Amino acid sequence: MKRAVLKAVVAQFHHPHGTGGRLAGRVMAHRPSNRQRNVWVVSLLDVQPADRVLEIGFGPGLAIAELSRRVSARGHVYGIDHSDVMLRQATRRNAAAIAAGRVTLSRAPVDRVPAALSGPFDAILAVNSHGFWPAPAERLGELRRRLRPGGRIAIASQPRCPGATASTSRKAAREIEALLLDAGYAMARTETLGLDPPVVCVLAVNPDPSGGRPG
Ligand SMILES: C[S@@+](CC[C@H](N)C(=O)[O-])C[C@H]1O[C@@H](n2cnc3c(N)ncnc32)[C@H](O)[C@@H]1O
Repeated sequence: MKRAVLKAVVAQFHHPHGTGGRLAGRVMAHRPSNRQRNVWVVSLLDVQPADRVLEIGFGPGLAIAELSRRVSARGHVYGIDHSDVMLRQATRRNAAAIAAGRVTLSRAPVDRVPAALSGPFDAILAVNSHGFWPAPAERLGELRRRLRPGGRIAIASQPRCPGATASTSRKAAREIEALLLDAGYAMARTETLGLDPPVVCVLAVNPDPSGGRPG
């Protein structure tokens, strides 16, 4: 019984739908640790005003809101999430930035990113989402091809399984690092935010064959 309830709750964070999904979205939007986690991840990405940024699995849209404060009319924030409940909540939360033309949100799964979002992006991020993706190494490879050479990616995780500890977070970081290396990224660094359990954010770059030299 306990296991069935846990499974149903996890399902609502994987693919929020119906009344349970609306509730899960509200929890994610208002839980202080969730807010802190999203603001922190965005702060690590070093977003510049003219950047084009893509978030996968935006949920209620906390990171999108934070990103939209950092880009100017020369940049743009894009997001996809496969849940229509999350699309509605994130759209309401970011209505002003969408109306101002700085944010575009779409409903799509990560394995079918719309062709219009081919990039190139300056930065891509996912917060507590990649663990739900089918074949995440393949997905990360596809996303790398949407990044400009030298573009950054941030994959963050705060393990939410019962009994998760700092050791669970360290294991999650090692798994993300391995996935990113497999997908052809060059590692930058791994950061930790001291919540309970800690949040880990692995930062990597799409290698630039020119070595970043102009021309
Ligand atoms: C735990 S929630 C995290 C939401 C948000 N990033 C945050 O930290 O507040 C996971 C989100 O990833 C989305 N998601 C899961 N699998 C996905 C997939 N295959 N494609 C697109 N979105 C996905 C879910 O719909 C959900 O909104």
